[in-house]
Amino acid sequence: MTCPVASAPADAPAVPAHVPPELVLDTRFANGQLANDLPDPYAETDVLRDPSFPPIHYYPWPTSGNQCGAWVVTRYEDIRRVYEDNDLFSTEGVAQFQALAGETWPSIPLGIDPPDHAKYRRFLNPWFTPVAMKTMEPRIRAIIGEMIDAFSARCEVDIAHDFGRVFPVKVFLDLMGLPFAMFDQFLAWEWDILHEPDIATKAAAVRSILAYLRGFIAEKQVAPDGTLGSYIANGVLDGQPLNVEEVIGMTWFLWLGGLDTVASSVSQMYRRLGMDQALQARIRDNPATISTAVEEFLRVQPLVNSGRKVKRDFVWHDVAIKAGDWVSVYNTSGNFDPAQFPDPRRFDPERQVNRHYTLSGGIHLCLGAHLARRELRVLLDEWFTRIPQPFRIKPGTDTTVTPGLLSIRNLPIVWDVA
Ligand code: HEM
Repeated sequence: MTCPVASAPADAPAVPAHVPPELVLDTRFANGQLANDLPDPYAETDVLRDPSFPPIHYYPWPTSGNQCGAWVVTRYEDIRRVYEDNDLFSTEGVAQFQALAGETWPSIPLGIDPPDHAKYRRFLNPWFTPVAMKTMEPRIRAIIGEMIDAFSARCEVDIAHDFGRVFPVKVFLDLMGLPFAMFDQFLAWEWDILHEPDIATKAAAVRSILAYLRGFIAEKQVAPDGTLGSYIANGVLDGQPLNVEEVIGMTWFLWLGGLDTVASSVSQMYRRLGMDQALQARIRDNPATISTAVEEFLRVQPLVNSGRKVKRDFVWHDVAIKAGDWVSVYNTSGNFDPAQFPDPRRFDPERQVNRHYTLSGGIHLCLGAHLARRELRVLLDEWFTRIPQPFRIKPGTDTTVTPGLLSIRNLPIVWDVA
């Protein structure tokens, strides 16, 4: 059978000697690297589960900013194995951007394997449970409501840049006790770390944010308060104070994970709703479906393809994988696997069984999952209450999207006067 996807071009990075050349394929279109303007920006990933496409292939480009080249699986069951088999797959070194600044401590909890991972989750979980979210909800509602009221009479807003980019960060900074005055600087550093190809620029941004966070931690140690930032800075775990590396490892990773994931989800959600008036009307007219609709939005807009480091040699789908190799799971494909999701390309706002991987799977399931869900639900609820008129994408808008983090920078939408 002929593979339906092109081989990686000659100028792609070199691959290790044990990788068969015919498995080195150009799947950048499914890895959040290439922009497109399709109504469903992930539509092209169906080819990755075609019988003529190999169940495992090799992607030669960087996958997580700091490592180059990874095996890739694209089917739901294979992805599940990677997320759940912690004896074979490790998160050691995942999202380890701090290595660019010469730092050796891990990102916590993502870069920690069992058994230690569980103790850090035990420490952080109380801040992110559904019960904790219930306590946070009035504040989330107030932030969203105030922002909508500030522009609703204008009948127009850049929902990506002026709203989606801002409100989740306000919620997150509030939670951590980080100052809103640093908003633009934080996003600029994050942009450099996640999206700048130049390593020196990335490294400079990592150094700057780490210096800032160390100052922030010192302040919270001198003057503790009721914020999550202070809880970590003064943290005690199993009767022992957290050490310096644990404190920075957690503070840094929360900063990295909490800043723009919800923003990207909001912009893709409004793009779809703006393009599909029938879907918009269906959710607006049936607010009871907002919870399942949010889950479906999450499923159809996966932002991250996770990576894991292989702990020992093994053979998978007749391919020899070696200890130290990286494996990347394409949630951009697995979330549309018909073996798991009936009629996967249909957006079903009432889909009942919806175990997608947008928020990861296994023990590293996103710590902020309940917060992200709550923010998106409250947003739709407040939006349709405050602006019941249908909205649409402003004519002439470029709706190109890069289906990954920071998906759409600008998305002006308009609606009629009430
Ligand atoms: C829609 C929004 C979000 C998405 C799509 C998302 C996605 C993810 C994914 C895919 C992972 C796992 C990565 C891996 O397995 O390699 C993850 C982990 C994590 N996320 Fe999120 N995230 C979101 C929101 C948030 C928020 C708002 C926070 C914090 C305030 C957060 C904090 C974390 C943390 C701490 C982890 C590590 C969990 C662990 O290793 O046990 N995330 N997230």
